Amino acid sequence: MSAQTTNRIARSRHDYQAPAFTIKTMQLSFNLHSTATRVTAVMQVNRETPGAALQLDGQHLTLIAITLDGRKLSAEHYQLSADGLVLPEVPDSFELCIETEIAPQHNTALEGLYMAGNTYCTQCEAEGFRRIMFFPDRPDVLCQYTVTIKADAKTYPYLLSNGNKISDHIDELGLRTVQWHDPFPKPCYLFALVAGDFDLVTDNFITQSGRDVRLELFVDKGAAAKGDFALQALKRAMRWDEQRFNLEYDLDIYMVVAVDFFNMGAMENKGLNIFNSKYVLADAASATDRDYFNIESIIGHEYFHNWTGNRVTCRDWFQLSLKEGLTVFRDQEFSADMGSATLSRIDAVKLIRSAQFAEDASPMAHPIRPEQVLEMNNFYTVTVYDKGAEVIRMLQTLLGRQLFASGLTLYLKRHDGQAATCDDFIRAMQDASGYDLTQFALWYSQSGTPVLTVKQQYDADTKQLSLTLRQETAATADQATKQALLLPIAVELLFADNSRQKQLFCLTDAEQQFVLPDVATEPVVVWLEHFSAPVKLHCQATTEDLLQIAAQASDGVARWDAMQQYWSRQITAVMQGAAVQTVITAELVALLKQWLELPAADLALTAELLTLPDFDTLAEQHDEIPVDAILSALSSIKMFLAQQLREAFLQCLHNLPQPAYRYQQQDVAIRRLRHLCLSYMAQLAEYDVVLQQHYQQADNMTDTIAVLMATQQAGSALFPQLRDDFCQRWQHDALVMDKAFALVATDPADTVFAGIAAMQQHRQFSWKNPNRVRALFSAFSMRNPQQFHRLDGAGYRLLLEAITKLDPINPQVSARLVTPLLSWRRFDKTRQQLMLDALQLLAAQSNLSNDLFEKVSRSLP
Ligand code: ARG
Ligand code: ZN
Repeated sequence: MSAQTTNRIARSRHDYQAPAFTIKTMQLSFNLHSTATRVTAVMQVNRETPGAALQLDGQHLTLIAITLDGRKLSAEHYQLSADGLVLPEVPDSFELCIETEIAPQHNTALEGLYMAGNTYCTQCEAEGFRRIMFFPDRPDVLCQYTVTIKADAKTYPYLLSNGNKISDHIDELGLRTVQWHDPFPKPCYLFALVAGDFDLVTDNFITQSGRDVRLELFVDKGAAAKGDFALQALKRAMRWDEQRFNLEYDLDIYMVVAVDFFNMGAMENKGLNIFNSKYVLADAASATDRDYFNIESIIGHEYFHNWTGNRVTCRDWFQLSLKEGLTVFRDQEFSADMGSATLSRIDAVKLIRSAQFAEDASPMAHPIRPEQVLEMNNFYTVTVYDKGAEVIRMLQTLLGRQLFASGLTLYLKRHDGQAATCDDFIRAMQDASGYDLTQFALWYSQSGTPVLTVKQQYDADTKQLSLTLRQETAATADQATKQALLLPIAVELLFADNSRQKQLFCLTDAEQQFVLPDVATEPVVVWLEHFSAPVKLHCQATTEDLLQIAAQASDGVARWDAMQQYWSRQITAVMQGAAVQTVITAELVALLKQWLELPAADLALTAELLTLPDFDTLAEQHDEIPVDAILSALSSIKMFLAQQLREAFLQCLHNLPQPAYRYQQQDVAIRRLRHLCLSYMAQLAEYDVVLQQHYQQADNMTDTIAVLMATQQAGSALFPQLRDDFCQRWQHDALVMDKAFALVATDPADTVFAGIAAMQQHRQFSWKNPNRVRALFSAFSMRNPQQFHRLDGAGYRLLLEAITKLDPINPQVSARLVTPLLSWRRFDKTRQQLMLDALQLLAAQSNLSNDLFEKVSRSLP
């Protein structure tokens, strides 16, 4: 059964119908075999809709037998298709037993039951369970599972599934049989199975009510030491959720398994999380500060799903943001509490301003609760996840922390054990807070990025400050007309006497004026403190105002944001022809010097203040993206700053302590600033010796990667030699080789094509491993604008070839790769045509997966 025989009909949110049959219990048995795994399901089925036929989803399954209440059914009693099984006439209540056969070894899509090396594992969200068994594969059918796994005891010492282990024995022939029971009814997307041989790292956690939970982390043989950080992070997450939201873990065991082949980051299967090993394994030598941050936040994310996702799940997949937006928000709050709140917020804002704004402006634009879906895997997006989290954050801003927490408590209590909707969530928030959230709910149905235009007027006679706010959301690919949204606008007023005042405005109309009485002198206004709403801001602040905000605002994010605006303006000026030395003034250089000298500052923030906005963020400020102008303005400003501040950077570098590596907030900040200095110094050949020294003396991956990236981005002659040394040194470590692949792929030099070609031959590279493919090709298409957008089209062609090769292997990953091409309308005529050519070649291919088809067809004219 190939993809093309399954249907290409998009589903609409409004077509939801409650399940015609429910299934209360399920006994699922696996006889594991790499090419012929036998799966048997015994289900208790109950009719909910009179007269309805029983429809079960199923794909890539070989049906062996069906029995109904003990009687074997022959072919005339059912209809089998590429998408499932229909039993037209069944009783109201019955036991259904189905036996199927599957081939995990041949499952390269990595959905359903597949093999990650020698390990059997599953990925069922969103619709992978239908590749394991015929079943109503929808999140609103909740059922209690008892799972039996049989496999050779020697090869597979660990046979895992959800819940509690209830039996375990080995027979005379060495066949092991293990049984698991999960007391919590769950949708099939939360089912998981793992079989393999691992190093097991264990710990325990005493919950707030005194229960002792066993924690088990399964990693590749020999990698036990690299699992410690993840396990500690898990304990921090468990404690945090008790303290912040009074949420306690509910089973006696919590397992996390790291696998080497995984389509996404991780999966929150009940009691048995499965992780991409990239988000579990870490030690100082092989992982960067960024890796540590990601591990902690994803470990937190999957753990937090136990309540927001598992105990209360989604009624249908259009509601995905109900669990994902909320859980991303929760993991962001966790990260903010564990490390630097400012830094983690800055990272989140960067993602919204680059990738999410781009998605809203693309043919794939959708509200955080999508309306139309062909392939659900295409909607695990920055919009559903990260804009979804922004929407939850706005709710917390509007209601305040306390009422927000009460709302969450009410939501979880009211819907515990159920499959809920976004409307249910809003209703609980409304009931708990007494706020009318009718207008706020528009955030769930409206796509697009609002533009907020602000004006301030001060009347010295009446002492009145009037602030005029206007919002407008342009039409998006999916939605022509837009309404005014409810926007929480947090502001801080900075007065000349150093006093300050905070205020929260709720903008509800297209245009509104807020008048503040008794304002003694005209303040500088800090708009959208902490990025209080996911909008594009247009304001009239002068460059002096921006520098004042950058120096004085009480919110670090606002300080950074003012500098971002400042840099954007200067970059625009250079793009329009201004000379760099007139744009980067002596006053600015003096200020930056002062910041670099400041010993008591937040060092990480200092580094962020001196970091220019990236290409993608700048691109989103233009309707037609002026690729070459942005790139050349960025590089000339960077070079100019390097020259102007050459001593200041060196001095700063010398002043910073260099403690032995620990992943700890203060040290992360020191490294961040040190690496900022190096990234500028790499522009100047005179500092080659310094960079080389740093590379040689580095005793941790964060420092090593920093030198590699600095020299690569600067086009330094040092880079090729350091890169080759790095590849040589780490050739046996696949996860570190991902960093090497990405270093090759993001090289702005013309030699990148030869580099990528060579790396495809590397023994660590494999088209079947998503991490490897992403390290080479996503890195190239998303983080190498210079070469990807080449005017000869070579960049687009390279991506086209990769997608073509990958789609039959792994559609989910191939569909992700195509994203940058979809935005062809945003570019100049020459690039438009080249990108369109690539898309049309893709569209013309037979056997295109649904994943890819949906995206390509949405983007073609
Ligand atoms: N629920 C997982 C998470 O924690 C992601 C699952 C993604 N699955 C997919 N098919 N796209 O975010
Ligand atoms: Zn999630």
